[in-house]
Amino acid sequence: MIIAIDGPAASGKGTMAKRLAAHYGLRHLDTGVIYRAVAHALLTAGIDLKDEARAAEVAMTLDPTTFDNPAFRSHEVGSAASVVSALPKVREALLAFQRQFASQPPGAVLDGRDIGTVICPDAQVKIYVVADPKIRAHRRTLEARSRGEPADEAAILADILARDERDQNRAVAPLKQAADAYLLDNSHLDIESGVRAAIDIVEAVRAGRQRV
Ligand code: DC
Repeated sequence: MIIAIDGPAASGKGTMAKRLAAHYGLRHLDTGVIYRAVAHALLTAGIDLKDEARAAEVAMTLDPTTFDNPAFRSHEVGSAASVVSALPKVREALLAFQRQFASQPPGAVLDGRDIGTVICPDAQVKIYVVADPKIRAHRRTLEARSRGEPADEAAILADILARDERDQNRAVAPLKQAADAYLLDNSHLDIESGVRAAIDIVEAVRAGRQRV
């Protein structure tokens, strides 16, 4: 089974995807980390984030064993990832890796922006997670503070809105709900309720299919 979870930054889709994968014994890929890894490599090397040829080169030589690098999680790297991810050659370079990951048995949960629309258009279950931007900004602020990092909620909200705008309006593989994706509004759900709602969607899809 392949489950595609898409949605904007800080919607809670990442935690949901991880928990769904554990629940169903599937592998999990946070596809945002791939773009973050490219962005981090460019920032570290002082390469212009819009240098498409260099960025594509970096994308072709990514090492998945580095994906848990905590430096990839920062806001700066997230915003840079949003810029880099608009480059068509970067997306092209990362496509095969994601499809390959998804195709290995017993299946996988992938979360990102274009999983249901581009990477895995045939996924059995597609969920599009949304949440009010102010609530997303508030959650990100609390998370940063719990890690002992200073966090300016207004700046985080501005960053989230800018990121939504860029991710939704880029020419290639923009963030959007696939026609056959279920919409899950995570604004007023805590983590457990959000995960439960996602499992309910998966179960409803599976039950529906069994009846066919
Ligand atoms: O989900 P995230 O915050 O880790 O993603 C960082 C950026 O990477 C996001 O703003 C846009 C880009 N991205 C993408 O374009 N496609 C994906 N499937 C995942 C992330």
